[in-house]
Formats: sequence, structure tokens, C-alpha cells
Amino acid sequence: MADRVKAKPDLVLGCATGRTMEGIYDALVTVADAEGVDFGGVRTFNLDEYVGIAPDDERSYRHYMERYLFSRLGMDRANTHVPNGVAPDLAAEAVAYEASIRAAGGIDLQLLGLGSNGHIGFNEPLSGFRSRTRVQPLAPHTREQNAAMFGGDPDAVPTTAITMGVGTILEAREAVLVVTGEHKAEILARTVEGPISALVTGTALQLHARCHVIADEAAASQLSLSDYYRDAVRHQPEWRAYLDTLD
Ligand code: GLP
Repeated sequence: MADRVKAKPDLVLGCATGRTMEGIYDALVTVADAEGVDFGGVRTFNLDEYVGIAPDDERSYRHYMERYLFSRLGMDRANTHVPNGVAPDLAAEAVAYEASIRAAGGIDLQLLGLGSNGHIGFNEPLSGFRSRTRVQPLAPHTREQNAAMFGGDPDAVPTTAITMGVGTILEAREAVLVVTGEHKAEILARTVEGPISALVTGTALQLHARCHVIADEAAASQLSLSDYYRDAVRHQPEWRAYLDTLD
């Protein structure tokens, strides 16, 4: 991400939230500080927001972004976009959000996490692969997974969210899916190697022209072709240079 910003100071960055991203944003801030990368011109669009949760509510994804990224990189808040979960007309908010992505020239780099039911953004099972930003009912499983932010009570998690669509995500010029932990191993294998199906919306990324998947050993443990992936990634100059720094 830092390299992409160096190459294009007004990069349009698609941002994700969730526990996985906390570590990613920590690392980005460290690299940006160490290398003096200026995020002042970067424009961001977040994937999603809970309906009914105001931007200044500490459970909102706007608040999450402030805490983990925007305040730490000194970003111009006018350049940051998170869907407004308390917009009086949510359908109009969704249409306006799509329009503002288009007006920014589209998303250059979309960061993604993976829900444990395989969702990307809040595109729950059966979200159409051509879906756009819209209000989406949350699956019971997702409300359980995300209950921690709501006092541990799944019933306290909003029943709907406003999310970029799968179609919106697929239009990003580049995408990075980051998945960590043993508990995501099975769903990562289904996402990367399984049949493309709207039941696991992350499988739509198999149709993306330039999507990188970054997984730790635990999350990658159920991939059937790991040896091939390890070898293949070393044939890509950008990734090889990075992996050499780890060896
Ligand atoms: C939420 C977000 C997703 C994110 C997912 C994974 O549901 N809407 O965009 O990918 O959480 O979260 P975690 O990283 O906490 O597992």
C-alpha cells in the first residue's frame, strides 16, 4: 500500500475493517512513518457501515477508521468516505456512494478481509456478483462474529448494513485479500480453490483481474496447492523482493 501511494500520491484506496485490518493498519502506519510516505492526497472509500450506527458512535466503522488509520496518518478527512449508516434515505446514500467512487476515478487498490462465512464487505451469501452499494441484511452468523463490539450480544448487532456490492469490489483495479488464523482456514480454501458460488461471495475474487491473497500459515493450512503457490509467488518480481526481506 505504501508503495502504491508513493507511485500515485492521490491513490484511491478501498479500506476494510475488522480485527485482521488492525494489524495491517499498524504496519502501514509504521512503514509510512519510517519511509516518510505522505498520505495527505490519498482518497479512501470504506467497504461498509452498520445501519443505524452514527459516525461518531464508537461502534461505527467511521470511528474504527479514525482510530486505526485516519488520525495516525494525518489524512485530510474531506478525502475519506465511509457510507453513512444513519442517512435519512439509505437507498439514495448508496447511489451517491457509487457516484462518488466513480467521480474519484474508481478504486485503485481495494483492501479486503474475509468473513468466516466467506463474505467480502458485508456481501452476505447470495449477494449477486454484479451487486452495487446497497442495504444488506446481515446473516445471523455475521452478527455473532461481530458481537464483541456490541457488548458480546449478537442481538445488539444491527440487523442491516450498507455495503459496497460485489460488482463494485470487482471493479477495483487491484485487490488484496488478507486472511489470518486457523479459524479461517476452511473458508479461505473454499474461497480460493472452491467452485465460484454466490454462497461464498469471496469466490467472486477468482474473477478479478488482479487480486492478491495474503494469508498466514494457519489460514493457508487447508489450501491443497500450497507448494505451487509458494513457488509461483517467487516468480513475481514484486513479491519475490518482499519475501527476500523476510528470509
Ligand atoms: C466484517 C467486515 C468485513 C471483514 C470481516 C472480517 O464483517 N464487514 O469487511 O472482512 O468483518 O473480520 P475479521 O477481520 O474481524 O475477521
